[in-house]
Amino acid sequence: MSDGSSERHVLCRFDELADGGSKGFALGAEATALTLFVVRRGEKVFAYENSCPHTGGPLDWVPDQFMDEDKTHIMCATHGALFRTETGQCLDGPCIGGWLRALPVKIENDEIILTR
Ligand code: FES
Repeated sequence: MSDGSSERHVLCRFDELADGGSKGFALGAEATALTLFVVRRGEKVFAYENSCPHTGGPLDWVPDQFMDEDKTHIMCATHGALFRTETGQCLDGPCIGGWLRALPVKIENDEIILTR
C-alpha cells in the first residue's frame, strides 16, 4: 500500500536543455539503473524511458542525441523509428503504433524534476 509519498529526482536545470534538445540520464546502481531521457519543446519537457519498443535497446548511439536532424521527432538511432515528441507514439519505422514509456516530469524552480 502506498503512503502517498513519491520520489523526486532533480535531473538538470531547465536552461541546460536547448529548445529541441535532449539529454539522457541513468538513475540508480549500474545494473538496475533506470535509463531515461528528456526532450524540450518550447517551454515544455517530456521524459521517456530509454528503451525502444522495437528491441528494448537504447535509442541513442551518441550520448544525449535522441532527436532527428530537424529536431521535430524523437528518433531511434538503431533502425530509425520516429516518435512523436509530445506523446512517445511511434509514427514511422519497425515499431509503428508502439509507444515509448512516458515518465512523469515537471519544471520547478528552473529545474527539471522526475517524480515517481
Ligand atoms: S531498435 Fe529502435 S527502431 Fe529498432
